[in-house]
Amino acid sequence: MHYYDKKYPYFNYPFCETDGSAWLMYSIPVIELVNIYKSYYHRKPNSFFDCGAAIGELVRQADNLGLDAHGIDVKKYPLAMHLFKKYEKYFDSQRIQIKNILDCEPIKSDIAYCNGTLTYMNEQNLPLVLNKFKKVGILIAIHNNTAHYPKLPRPDN
Ligand SMILES: C[S@@+](CC[C@H](N)C(=O)[O-])C[C@H]1O[C@@H](n2cnc3c(N)ncnc32)[C@H](O)[C@@H]1O
Repeated sequence: MHYYDKKYPYFNYPFCETDGSAWLMYSIPVIELVNIYKSYYHRKPNSFFDCGAAIGELVRQADNLGLDAHGIDVKKYPLAMHLFKKYEKYFDSQRIQIKNILDCEPIKSDIAYCNGTLTYMNEQNLPLVLNKFKKVGILIAIHNNTAHYPKLPRPDN
């Protein structure tokens, strides 16, 4: 068993880097984030924002749960986009935008999720980024990791 499978047992999914190398992304299913929100507010959330959405898996899950789902990522993953057609609609519709969180207006969303994104911030930028989330219902930020995947993921179409 990979070390990260023990450390992040919640779920993982394959994706491709811009250089074509294959990786596993370790994350938390949106349904679990929804449950955290519910435990605070005793009602269902309506909206979800993924700060560092990568190929869009979390936005897709949130959309499938009926949430108004959006995200941004500073980086575009072109090969992954080519392989995984199910994510394309989120980029085509601009629900996921290629953008730096530092360039965003304050985020308005019931749930905001940062998986590893804050790890990229230096001490100067961290307070600026946290300020972007003052208007969200709940900010869930974790430090996560990726692991090399033994082979390229298969196309889903
Ligand atoms: C670990 S991935 C998280 C992927 C996805 N949210 C998930 O949980 O499966 C973190 C992402 O944050 C993005 N990122 C890093 N700095 C960023 C910034 N300043 N603005 C937006 N996205 C950023 C990276 O490009 C990377 O795709």
